[in-house]
Amino acid sequence: MEELFGGAAPYYARYRPAYGEAAIEHLARALGPDSRVLDLGCGPGTIAVPLAGRVRTVLAVDPAEEMLAAGRRLAAGAPTITWLRGDSTTLRALPPFDHVVMGRSFHWMDRRAVLADLDELLPPRGAVALIGPVSRRGEPWQPNAQPWQPVERRVCADFGLGMSAAATSFHATAEPHRDVLAASPFDHLESRTFTRRLTWDVDGLVGLQLSYSYSSPAALGDRLHAFVEALREALLADNPAGRWEQELLTEVLIARRPPGRRPADPP
Ligand SMILES: C[S@@+](CC[C@H](N)C(=O)[O-])C[C@H]1O[C@@H](n2cnc3c(N)ncnc32)[C@H](O)[C@@H]1O
Repeated sequence: MEELFGGAAPYYARYRPAYGEAAIEHLARALGPDSRVLDLGCGPGTIAVPLAGRVRTVLAVDPAEEMLAAGRRLAAGAPTITWLRGDSTTLRALPPFDHVVMGRSFHWMDRRAVLADLDELLPPRGAVALIGPVSRRGEPWQPNAQPWQPVERRVCADFGLGMSAAATSFHATAEPHRDVLAASPFDHLESRTFTRRLTWDVDGLVGLQLSYSYSSPAALGDRLHAFVEALREALLADNPAGRWEQELLTEVLIARRPPGRRPADPP
C-alpha cells in the first residue's frame, strides 16, 4: 500500500485541497464535541488535523507510513490525535471509537466488508461520514470535469500512467458510495454540499498530479523530472495565462443506522 502513494505525501499535504472550514465545522457538529472519531485512510490528516479540538479525540489510521509522518508534522503535536498504522481490514484491533470519517478513502476499501465490521463496532447512533469532491450535488466526482484534466490525462497516457485500479473500478462501475451505504445497515443518509472557488497555477497543478497514487513519484521513478517538465509545458501550451479557476464542491455524507436499529452482534 505504501508503494501506491510512494513519495506522494509531501505533495498531498501541500497541494490537495483541504475541505474548508464550513465542511469541517458541519462534520464536527454532527459528530459532537464529546466523540471519539476514527479517521480511516487519514492521509496527512486532511480531516484529522482540522477536526482535532472540535471533538474529544481523533484516531488517525492509514497504511502508509509516509502519510502518517506528514500528518504528525502538520498536527504539530496536537495531543488529541493518535496516529496509527493500519487499514480497513484491521478495525477490530483499534481502540474503541464512536464515529468513523473517511475522506476520499472509501473507494480504496472493500466497502461492504468495512460496513459489516462497523456494524459490530459502532454504537447505535455511530456515524459513518464520507467527505469528498462531487461533480454536481449528489453526483460522484468525474475525472475529466476540470478544464486542465484532459491535458493531464494526455501527458499521463504518454508516460503510460493510468488511473489506479481502485479509482478506475469505483468510477467505472459507477456504484456510488451512497448506494453502497443505502444497502447497508447505515442506510439513514444526510448530505450537505459545500462550494468553494479555488485558483490554481501551474506549480499547483503539477504538485496536485504528483499527489495521486497512479502518478506518484514512486510510480514515475527516474522519469519524474521528465514528467514534470512535460506536464508543465502541456498545461502552459493549453492555457498560456497559467491560471485555472475551479469551483470545488465537497459533499459531507453522513450515514447512520435508522433510529431503533441495534448494532450487529460480534461473531
Ligand atoms: C486519497 S487519500 C485520502 C487522505 C485523506 N483522508 C483526505 O481526505 O485527503 C487515500 C488514503 O487512503 C489510504 N488507504 C488506501 N487503502 C486503504 C485501506 N484499505 N484502509 C485504510 N486506508 C487506506 C491511503 O494510504 C491514502 O492515504
